[in-house]
Amino acid sequence: MSELRHRRVEPEILDDLEPGDPRAVGSRRDLRLLNGLMGQVAIAAELLRDHVPAPPRRLLEIGCGDGVFMLRVARRLHRRWPSVHVTLLDRQDLVSHETRAAFDALGWTTETAVADVFDWTAAASAQSQDVVATNLFLHHFSDDAIRLLLGRLAVVAPVFVATEPLRQPFALLASRSLRLLGANDVTRHDAPASVRAGFRGAELSALWPEGAEHRLTERRRGLFTQAFCAAMPTIGGARP
Ligand SMILES: C[S@@+](CC[C@H](N)C(=O)[O-])C[C@H]1O[C@@H](n2cnc3c(N)ncnc32)[C@H](O)[C@@H]1O
Repeated sequence: MSELRHRRVEPEILDDLEPGDPRAVGSRRDLRLLNGLMGQVAIAAELLRDHVPAPPRRLLEIGCGDGVFMLRVARRLHRRWPSVHVTLLDRQDLVSHETRAAFDALGWTTETAVADVFDWTAAASAQSQDVVATNLFLHHFSDDAIRLLLGRLAVVAPVFVATEPLRQPFALLASRSLRLLGANDVTRHDAPASVRAGFRGAELSALWPEGAEHRLTERRRGLFTQAFCAAMPTIGGARP
């Protein structure tokens, strides 16, 4: 499909709606369903388990939305990773008390950072996190903006993992069929836009800073997901 040959980044409706707008609330509910159907939670948990060498103490999620995605990841990892402090960063203030309480119940503490990711990362300290994760977020930005962001994240933590939309014909077809699942108009617009702005091959690896020591892993997972990880090499399970 020639329309998928190159990434096409376009505005997503959800990004411009007020948090309490019923269309935004409905679309975030759709997103929780889609994260399950696409396997995003399972894929991200596996990437984290496989690439973070020891239980982390500080985890940053960028573009966290309502925080439910990371909560579901935490439910899969908390026995192995018993006491993580999670910083949930999003431009909008969306993480509910219930979600924070659910993290607490797993033994994970949380703080929210309501900020633009580019402003926040410009001021972040080197190695201030053990791992940075993101889901369905990088595709919002142009290649140049992603290159800038990844350059900063490479310094913030030794491991970065991303689960993003796969830019493939079947994923586009499925994203155009979401009416069948009862998705609202916002989701029905944003889902195909996300696929067109998604990734394939080694496109994210090409945006990682040249000369960085990290080992890069990037591959398609399942029908809908492009999974990327950048991890500093370890010696005997510890960082050199
Ligand atoms: C598609 S949603 C994904 C949310 C979450 N990761 C999930 O899987 O449910 C993208 C999120 O990115 C946030 N966002 C968009 N641009 C941003 C920016 N420049 N800085 C911080 N957050 C941003 C939006 O507010 C939105 O919550």
